[in-house]
Amino acid sequence: MHKNIDKIKDLESPPQVIKNLFDKNEIEKFLNLYNELPTTVHNKKQNVIKKRWLKSYSNELEELFYNKVKNEIGDFKMDNLKDEKNEDILGLFQESYNPIGLHVDAGFNLDEIIFKQTLIPLTSKGSTVIFKNKFYGNSTNFTIDKDELKVKELKYGQNFRSSEHIDMYNKKPFDRENHEKYLKHEKIENLAGLEVDLVYEWEIGSMLIFDRTRLHCSSCVIDGKKIGLTTFTKK
Ligand SMILES: [Fe+2]
Repeated sequence: MHKNIDKIKDLESPPQVIKNLFDKNEIEKFLNLYNELPTTVHNKKQNVIKKRWLKSYSNELEELFYNKVKNEIGDFKMDNLKDEKNEDILGLFQESYNPIGLHVDAGFNLDEIIFKQTLIPLTSKGSTVIFKNKFYGNSTNFTIDKDELKVKELKYGQNFRSSEHIDMYNKKPFDRENHEKYLKHEKIENLAGLEVDLVYEWEIGSMLIFDRTRLHCSSCVIDGKKIGLTTFTKK
């Protein structure tokens, strides 16, 4: 559990979608940056390509991003992982062909005061489901898949696997309509006790901001591939 839970809770707020924050030219620059960056992970099973946003590839975008986010959430620090050279990783680009499962991005240091995370879509089709439910542990993938739960050897920056969410909320069966519409890739039993807060429909130029304590996942609405940029903040 996070040590500064009270402070973390004080900073919580509803998820927020900011429209028309980036113009076409700026999105183009993010996509160019994405193309230039080296590939970190190409997970063939999940069919996802991950690239870390490494420092100094584009000072212009770093500044643009920082200022835009600060304007929305006030003072913050980036909660960055480090690369092999001990340089900050500013965020994560993910190009996915399959929806990403239920998880929380609460970080790997329980002493930190985790704050907001941002999602900038770089392709137009896709959606992200934010649940009302919160979690105050480390970054975790929530699953009831037995094989997945056996995964104990984690590399740096990899999420824990857990089914503890099942006992954490009210266990009420998940809404069938929402399951059919957005979450067919998840077993409905894995969503017991969860309640949808927001379905963010990706729109170029917009940004989603939400608390790092919120459970979330991709929706199953994917048309080919989607590319998004995620970053994490702390106080
Ligand atoms: Fe996430």
